Amino acid sequence: MTTTQTPQQSLATLEDRARARPGAYGEHALIACDNLVRIYQSEGIEVQALQGLDLLVDPGEEIAIVGASGSGKSTLLSVLSGLDVPTAGRVRVGPWDLMGMSARERVEYRRSMVGFVWQQTGRNLVPYLSATENVALPQALAGVRSAARRQRAVELLDALGVGYCADRRPGQLSGGEQQRVAIGVALANSPQVLFADEPTGELDSATSVEVFDTLRAANRELGVTVVIVTHDSSVSEHVQRTVEIRDGRTSSEVLRRTHTDEHGAEQVVAEEYAVLDRAGRVQLPADYREALELSGRVRLALETRHVEVWPDRPRPGRHSSTPADGTPQNRQEES
Ligand SMILES: Nc1ncnc2c1ncn2[C@@H]1O[C@H](COP(=O)(O)OP(=O)(O)O)[C@@H](O)[C@H]1O
Ligand SMILES: [Mg+2]
Repeated sequence: MTTTQTPQQSLATLEDRARARPGAYGEHALIACDNLVRIYQSEGIEVQALQGLDLLVDPGEEIAIVGASGSGKSTLLSVLSGLDVPTAGRVRVGPWDLMGMSARERVEYRRSMVGFVWQQTGRNLVPYLSATENVALPQALAGVRSAARRQRAVELLDALGVGYCADRRPGQLSGGEQQRVAIGVALANSPQVLFADEPTGELDSATSVEVFDTLRAANRELGVTVVIVTHDSSVSEHVQRTVEIRDGRTSSEVLRRTHTDEHGAEQVVAEEYAVLDRAGRVQLPADYREALELSGRVRLALETRHVEVWPDRPRPGRHSSTPADGTPQNRQEES
């Protein structure tokens, strides 16, 4: 006879089964954020910076995460770069489970798996070293020999289109050139993922385009997965996929595809999608809500190939034979 399981035991069994289940959430993704929550406590006030955020990024993708100031972008990037631990949820980058790393593993993860570019150009580069020496520095910390690091630095700067800056110090470079050299520093130890937090935040729009082009070159030519975080929504013109976060959660995505028209010309088509999260939540865009005065409660109807969302208008009289708005529910009530 089997013994009765306590609630804890059965919960543990279920969790084991969920983990062992084939096709687990995001198993083929390089980055998998599952229901991430990050709550900050300061002076007795609680701020929910991430509120159940789901995000999957495939190996080799270049994606932008956009959102207003305070929407949780930097919090997400701190978590993904191993600087911060979320309050709840699960997060994995490659083989690394970011919830359960020791301090030593965290250092190793940051040194070998990921690279960063920060908004403040001064935070990315050492001012008294040349561009080549800046790119060689992280390799020295990883134990690469001197000749090899110099060669890699020169090759990387060339690949990123800033080979001509090799012998200059940061003070002799424009803001855009500094950020492009910073991308070289971030890639010095061949990470699988490059994170950039507002990399163009201190640049004008023409220079920003050069930096986005350099990030694209890193993605296409060196195969590194690139995640850019920015409040600049024009970034979506430069990447294949843009994910918007609102109130600490992913809310919509724009995908850009190239397609060839009947005259053989290449055209870029950008399509906007809403994100359906794992709990079944969808955020309706503000202009849709305003246009139909949708608020509080809506009615849903399942059709053969789509779902309808209807306003919950007061109906003119409980027993009226005329449907107020012709929603499917009203039609059902009549029959
Ligand atoms: N260390 C912190 N302590 C308390 N609140 C924080 C901290 N860091 C961020 N926040 C709050 O969390 C929210 C999200 O911040 P952040 O991730 O920096 O947004 P973004 O990068 O999109 O501007 C904001 O309301 C911010 O004030
Ligand atoms: Mg930020």
